[in-house]
Amino acid sequence: MNTREQIEQMRRDWDERARENARYYVNTERDDWTDQEFFASGERTVAEEVLTDMTNICQGKDPKQMTVLEIGCGAGRVTRALAGLFGQVRGVDISAEMIERARRALADCPNAQVFQNNGTDLSVLGGVPVDFAFSTIVFQHIPSREVIETYVRDVHRLLRPGGLFKFQVQGDPSIEARPDDTWLGVSYSDAQAVELAEKCGFEPRHRHGQGNQYFWLWFFKK
Ligand SMILES: C[S@@+](CC[C@H](N)C(=O)[O-])C[C@H]1O[C@@H](n2cnc3c(N)ncnc32)[C@H](O)[C@@H]1O
Repeated sequence: MNTREQIEQMRRDWDERARENARYYVNTERDDWTDQEFFASGERTVAEEVLTDMTNICQGKDPKQMTVLEIGCGAGRVTRALAGLFGQVRGVDISAEMIERARRALADCPNAQVFQNNGTDLSVLGGVPVDFAFSTIVFQHIPSREVIETYVRDVHRLLRPGGLFKFQVQGDPSIEARPDDTWLGVSYSDAQAVELAEKCGFEPRHRHGQGNQYFWLWFFKK
């Protein structure tokens, strides 16, 4: 299976998951999310991963003056919470079905826009610079190091110098990704995460959760 075929597989599978039960596949804690509970789970993610980290994220800027990028925005759960905090939010997702649901979730958030992308880079956003980039429970599903690296390089293109890309990858070494399985993504060791940052022009200043599913990386653009 080549990378193009893998990307097509990701798009097909995520469209299918979205049609079946988008909110369950976004957050498998429940299969019967109400709007209120689903959006509250996005608020919790932002409370845990963003609000606790505003010094690294904002670096003295007013959040309302910042433009934020979210990779793999799904049904808009986290995007909505980010839109309540930051000036502008742009989300991308490989699945048109997810994007349709995200647009509905964001109907009352005029500062948030979401786009279906090609599943590997941010060309759909053009060249508008971003102040902070974020991604959670997305790369843990991507079975290709090449695709993840392409995203990291493209975030580097859009981030302002010194800006932070905070994202989560799979860190559990017992996970065996298969090229055609779009649920279990490739796992990163600490050394592989550092190598990824350095190859793509980032300083991997902090890492947390090595060896676990929730391996968080703080990549600062050099
Ligand atoms: C588990 S959901 C998480 C959604 C969102 N990050 C959240 O926490 O609510 C994973 C999302 O990643 C998207 N995704 C998977 N592979 C992708 C890729 N190669 N490029 C962009 N999005 C991708 C899926 O379509 C899906 O919406």
